[in-house]
Amino acid sequence: MNLPEQAMIIEVGPRDGLQNEKSFVPTEIKKEFIGQLKKAGIKEMELTSFVSPKWVPQMKDASEVVEASLGGGRDIVLAPNKKGIQRVYGTSCKAVAVFVGVSSTFNKKNINKTTEEAVTDLEPIISELKEKNYFVRACISTAFYCPYEGKINPESTVSLCQRFVGMGVDELSVADTIGMANPKNSFELFSKLKSSLGEVLLTAHFHDTRKMALANILASLQAGVDRFDASAGGLGGCPFAPGATGNVATEDVVYMLENMGVSTGINLDELVSAIDIVKPHVTRTIETGYYRLAHAIEQ
Ligand code: HMG
Ligand code: MG
Repeated sequence: MNLPEQAMIIEVGPRDGLQNEKSFVPTEIKKEFIGQLKKAGIKEMELTSFVSPKWVPQMKDASEVVEASLGGGRDIVLAPNKKGIQRVYGTSCKAVAVFVGVSSTFNKKNINKTTEEAVTDLEPIISELKEKNYFVRACISTAFYCPYEGKINPESTVSLCQRFVGMGVDELSVADTIGMANPKNSFELFSKLKSSLGEVLLTAHFHDTRKMALANILASLQAGVDRFDASAGGLGGCPFAPGATGNVATEDVVYMLENMGVSTGINLDELVSAIDIVKPHVTRTIETGYYRLAHAIEQ
């Protein structure tokens, strides 16, 4: 089996994990959660997003969360537009994720712009970020399926990714937004991306709606991917993508990889403690394989 010696987990729990939670998670809890994730060995993490608080009220404390949490790895924040970037400039954060959907219908629902409008607006933003030496990650939503348009042509995903590579982004995070991809889709798309994108960091972002995310990760590993977004406790989902449930759970990905001899540098006991911090504040039941087992063994 084609397996790397190491893989990087990009923790998206504080951002993707919490953005869909209806009740506000106290800022102090978010900070504690992030601190404990770092203690568990997370080296790259999406901390929050500088989006409109009217659209996503959960992220209204972005500046406060960022300033309290920076340090000890690559801390990333999402920003959808110029206003978001100006807010990022007001912090010490040096890594930004922009996001766009391959599907225009999804994009309109998510950021009120078609894909083409969004890409056109992002071009000068990315160029300015690169001039200022920011790390830029581009998150590509609905790379496989769209909740509104159905199956996405893989060529459309590849060509959108190539446009971002042309703009000089450092990383592409390619997402199965509503968890519809199967391992064959994953292997085929990531093989194409690996062969057509050059040296850019390539990350896979799987939601686990149909419980296929771990299988999709295994298929992506076979295609040469060694970077995976994951969310502690399997929390997550985009508020503008109906049907999307949580991200693949960090603890399950770490357990699978470590047991196959792929090192992640993440301590599972410390990771469970991070989930314990946020669990009483979220409405979603946390019942991921490793988390349940960790607590069952304690009893
Ligand atoms: P809009 O309503 O078209 O924006 O929303 P606008 O430019 O017309 O501005 C309207 C108001 O919002 C104005 O305020 C602006 O100042 C304010 P008012 O004058 O009415 O008081 N505004 C902002 N405030 C704070 N921060 C900003 C900002 N921008 C405008 N950045 C907008 C357009 C993009 C703002 C909105 O659609 C939005 O915030 N969308 C965010 C959606 C979101 O967060 N989605 C989830 C993240 S993506 C995701 O989860 C997918 C991913 O995980 C990968 C995958 O799984 O697929 C990454
Ligand atoms: Mg997502």
